[in-house]
Amino acid sequence: MRIIIEENYEDMSRTAASIVKDYVSNHPACVLGCATGTTPIGMYQGLVEAHREGKLDFSETRFFNLDEYCGLDPSNDQSYTYFMKEHLFDHINVRPEHIHLPDGMAGDIEAACRRYDAEIERSGGIDLQVVGIGINGHIGFNEPGDCFYPDTHKIALHESTIRANARFFSSIEDVPTEAITMGIRPILQSKMLLFLANGESKIDAVYGALRGPISPRLPASILQLHPNVVAVIDRSAAKRL
Ligand code: F6R
Repeated sequence: MRIIIEENYEDMSRTAASIVKDYVSNHPACVLGCATGTTPIGMYQGLVEAHREGKLDFSETRFFNLDEYCGLDPSNDQSYTYFMKEHLFDHINVRPEHIHLPDGMAGDIEAACRRYDAEIERSGGIDLQVVGIGINGHIGFNEPGDCFYPDTHKIALHESTIRANARFFSSIEDVPTEAITMGIRPILQSKMLLFLANGESKIDAVYGALRGPISPRLPASILQLHPNVVAVIDRSAAKRL
């Protein structure tokens, strides 16, 4: 694992964007695994800028997101589909058929999960996976629990996740309680994994992920088994490393 500690959020974002830029430039038809949340917003801004300057072409790149809330229509401004359009897809030359997110509105969620895994497999798997980390150590919405789930699945969001994500909604009651998340297998099988974290609230989660015992109690700790991780962390989140 390569760990890069940056001074602040802006530097973390710049470094992350340049890693993704290099990857996409060298592998234009790659499969990019995307995260949402506040952590990667600056990185996406860097990618949009590079595209606007004519330095980055996404016409062949395929995208798979880690997760989506259940029961939020894609037009809802808190859905992850909306987030991705707002921060990346509406500003780059991605082909609509190359955009994939779990279908949180599906009538048959189990079938939607199986379809998502089949689509990932048909695409040849994830090449570069970007992940953030929850304060409770989740990756995607693989929440702390008794075991790791390999496949895409529906999950009841942990109380701490609902509390953490309430900042995006008008009240905590509006936060969806369930989501669909990619499982651990495609994340671990990605060719390269870019792990991002910033801010003091992530200190313990980052320490547990990178230095703690590998345990489903802190799902991101499984990333220690990935052979090609680049972790870009700002100084405040890296304090215990
Ligand atoms: C979202 C996702 C989550 C977030 C995590 C951190 O797609 O995969 O695991 O990365 O909740 O969220 P932020 O960046 O908002 O602190």
